[in-house]
Formats: sequence, structure tokens, C-alpha cells
Amino acid sequence: MKLEITYDHNDNKMVNEENPMRFITAAVATLALTVGAQVATAAPIEIKFSHVVAENTPKGQMANKFRDLVAERLAGKVVVNVFPSSQLFGDNKVLEAMLLGDVQMAAPSLSKFQKYTKSLQIFDLPFLFKDMDAVERFQQGPAGQKLLGSLANKGLVGLGYLHNGMKQLSASNELRVPADAAGRKFRIMTSDVLQAQFEAIDAVPLKKPFSEVFTLLQTRAIDGQENTWSNIYSKKFFEVQPFITESNHGVLDYLVVTSAEFWMELDDGLKADIKKALDEAIAFGNGVAADKGVSDKQAIIDSRRSQVVSITDAERSQWVDAMKPVWKQFEGQIGADLIEAAVAANK
Ligand code: LMR
Repeated sequence: MKLEITYDHNDNKMVNEENPMRFITAAVATLALTVGAQVATAAPIEIKFSHVVAENTPKGQMANKFRDLVAERLAGKVVVNVFPSSQLFGDNKVLEAMLLGDVQMAAPSLSKFQKYTKSLQIFDLPFLFKDMDAVERFQQGPAGQKLLGSLANKGLVGLGYLHNGMKQLSASNELRVPADAAGRKFRIMTSDVLQAQFEAIDAVPLKKPFSEVFTLLQTRAIDGQENTWSNIYSKKFFEVQPFITESNHGVLDYLVVTSAEFWMELDDGLKADIKKALDEAIAFGNGVAADKGVSDKQAIIDSRRSQVVSITDAERSQWVDAMKPVWKQFEGQIGADLIEAAVAANK
């Protein structure tokens, strides 16, 4: 449409000589289409956050907090949808799915990364950290921070650690010393270090997804498993395991990860806002982990469904002596320096 505009002295307005109304209508329509197209292309970026635990756990609470903070601060720009309890992916599939772009964030246990890096195996070494404070010191120190980048050449970005807690041993029989576990079947996460740990006490480790553990225990297909108080409580393992030995023999923590492809495509401002919300959610989740390490243990004791077994120092030394040779077995893959740095965090 050619536009010829003259000045109407009588009316004191600019008009289109040909057909003033048609011009205005067309201009308004064009404007509406442009705005409409912009609105349509500016749909919020979706972050699907997939995990395997219940919502009333440190990881479940952290993910929900992250979703809420993002909704509060980045409404219209980013939306986080959380899929708990292996609804979307089990931990064994989630990283593949992330690399394919089917999910943007997850926080698998540090024991589930061995396909992608050997150095994170450090967290599975039995009796390495004396408590969660030592784990925190190591993770926040230079060696721990460097490990966040250990997945870079696999297309994954480590965004931060999240605590769950120390692992305990649950079983259908009372485990006071390693000999009590000999010949018995234990479910483990997909970790060769954990496999070696159970082989060191002559037990039979079986790598199985978290979503199958309850049924395996209930049907007595396996005799026991290792996990934190919050996982044993929230997934009701204590209802089908008459004994839980308070062994604190290892740590179960998480790495919050995203894909490099997704992360790099975000503009810097948005990336910073998302990271800030995540850091706050992680701090919140760590608080939940500390609380649940106490309250979920107490809830299990109060339930009287399972007996919490406290072992003596002499009994504990037997577990340490039997399992600690695993360190040497994996020193070549993990690195002696890294193990040294972790040991130093105990002080
Ligand atoms: C497990 O498989 O036992 C844990 O990794 C589950 C979890 O994510 O806490």
C-alpha cells in the first residue's frame, strides 16, 4: 500500500488521502501481529528437574525451593517443573536424557557418575570422611571445587553439591561385625567402589535402581542395602528391614548438574539469576538434610518397626579394617592427591 499523507487544514490532522480508515486499520493490525508474534516467541524457558527421591527429602525439598524461587523472581522468563520419585527418569537414565535435551537439571547421587568421570568415585570410599562437616570442608575447598568441572568434557556442568548425609546399613539380620554380612545380598548404586566395599566383607553386591529397592527388600530378593536416614524413612525401607546398623560408613551426597549445551545458550544475566536461586535452594536443602538426619532417624526408632543397632568402637574398627583396603584398589583411578585432600578435611 502506497502511503500518501497530506495535512487536512480543516481537521488539523494527518490523513491518508486514499482511505484514511483503511490505513489506520492496517497499521493497527500489523502492530498487533508483530506484538503477538513477540509474545508467542517469548514463552518461558522450561527447566525440567528430574529426581528419584520423595518430596519430603533434602533433594526433594531443594528442588521444590528452586522451583519456587525461580517462579518468584523469573516469572515469564523461566519455569522449573520438578519430577520426583523417578516419575520422569531413573538416575541411571537421567544423564543420557540430559545430553539429549529431554531434561535440563538433575541431582544424582555422586555414586552415579562413574560412566562420566572416575574422580567423583572419591565420595564412595568407605570411612573416608568422619562426618558431614568434613564432607562440606572438602567440597568447598579447592579440590572439591575443581571436581565440579570434572564432567566438562562429557557435556555436563556441575553446578553445586547438595548434602543428604552419612549412610547406614539396613538388613534382615542384625549386623554388628562384617562377618554378619558375609554371603548376604546388598543392593548398591551403580558404583564399582561400592561393589568393592561389599566384596571386601564377603557380601554380594547388586547394582539396582533406587525405584526397585523397596520391592526387592520386601520380597526378600535381597537382604539389605545402604542409605541415609532420610531415604530409609521416606521410602519406607525401615518397614521391611528389621535392623539398621548405625555405621556412618560412607557419604551420600549429590551433584546438581545441567547440560553444557543448555547452560551455554542462556544469556549471562539469566544464568546468574538461575545460579543464585539454585545456590539458595541448595543452602536450604542442606539445612533440611541436617534436620532429617536427626528427625527421620528418630521417627524410625519411634515406629518400632526396625531396631537401630549401635555398634561399639571395637566392632566399628572391624568394619574399618575390612573395608579400608578399597582405597588402595581405587587410588590409581581417583588419584592419591585427591584422597589426601579428603583425609585432610577431617581435621
Ligand atoms: C540411591 O539410589 O540409593 C540414592 O542415590 C537415591 C538418592 O537419590 O538419594
